[in-house]
Amino acid sequence: MRIDVLTLFPEMFQAPFSASIRQRALSRGLVQLCIHNFRDFATDKHHVVDDTPYGGGAGMVLKPEPLFDAVENILSATGDEPPVIILTPQGRLFRQETAVSLSAYPHLILICGHYEGFDERVRRHLATDELSIGDYVLSGGELAAMVVVDAVTRLLPGVLGSEASPLEESHSVGLLEYPQYTRPAVFRDWPVPEVLLSGNHAQIARWRREEAIRRTLERRPELLERATLTAAEKRFVASLRQTDLAC
Ligand code: 6GU
Repeated sequence: MRIDVLTLFPEMFQAPFSASIRQRALSRGLVQLCIHNFRDFATDKHHVVDDTPYGGGAGMVLKPEPLFDAVENILSATGDEPPVIILTPQGRLFRQETAVSLSAYPHLILICGHYEGFDERVRRHLATDELSIGDYVLSGGELAAMVVVDAVTRLLPGVLGSEASPLEESHSVGLLEYPQYTRPAVFRDWPVPEVLLSGNHAQIARWRREEAIRRTLERRPELLERATLTAAEKRFVASLRQTDLAC
């Protein structure tokens, strides 16, 4: 997969992608990350990328020309038709399922916003999608772009290596993960739940599933609406909700 990132702060992308999994993926040629400073595409003497808003008001707006030129340059150099994604707090929420669908593309372009935002013509006529990573405001789209790159590239075949299948982890099945324990069997006063030492795999699987459901109900009840549960599990949820009312 090739990912082009357009940013005014390319140096922000150095450290995160020099570490760990990403490095492994990059070095094995599974992911090609191309960071561009779109200021380089401003044609005026001072490489201006923003201007005051029409109609007045505070802040600055990112001009359309450098962004259109940067994206069109990538499109013609590659001959690809990748999704062109702008990262702003107004975007649709980036979820695990968004990561899964983006991971199917051989090429993505991510554009990091700054200041008061983009000229609306970038949204309408250049971007194919607009994403936000959550309900808070970051000072720019860079951290959000890194989140998207990380979540998407770790789904690519061969990137995770020996780690767990991404399809088994939190959010992939619509539930949070069950509690995990390792040795010692008793640490200070705190024993590992007995069922995990029992060797009874069916019972362990059932316990894990129930704990995942219990945790999701406690912490992220809205996720349960989207999860696929068996009839027995739905009854289990109902019984947990019942218990909750009792205390
Ligand atoms: Cl994509 N950009 C900015 N500036 N803030 C955000 C965001 C993106 N997602 C959540 N907050």
